[in-house]
Amino acid sequence: MSKLVRFGVSLEEDLLMKFDSLIRRQKYTNRSEALRDLIRNELVKKEWMENKEVTGVITIVYDHHVRELINKMLDIQHDYYSHILSNQHIHIDHHNCFEIIVTKGKSKEIEDLYRKLKSIKSVKHAGFMMATQGKDLV
Ligand code: NI
Repeated sequence: MSKLVRFGVSLEEDLLMKFDSLIRRQKYTNRSEALRDLIRNELVKKEWMENKEVTGVITIVYDHHVRELINKMLDIQHDYYSHILSNQHIHIDHHNCFEIIVTKGKSKEIEDLYRKLKSIKSVKHAGFMMATQGKDLV
């Protein structure tokens, strides 16, 4: 682990109050840890912008009675089989399915996979979360 360095930050009182209120709601016990996480989030965004090797999660909600949708979704996922680490299917109710796809690979390719799945006709909702392989984070 690298050396801990202290530094001073100057900012408007109102902004600091808003920051403290925000991090309190997020259950941080101190500003340092909240600031570390903000920095790490920006570094993860940078990895994604620079098309690095990353991880990410895609979620999809759809009605499984729409057969064409399922075939399309499977075709697309098989095109990206090397980027998909796992796939969990949850039956929400009689009609609706919730799928969680854990991905790993170049960020642009994972984004392409997400866009292809999201744009399938009749998908009710598609969600996306950027993550990292953690190699470049402290
Ligand atoms: Ni289902």
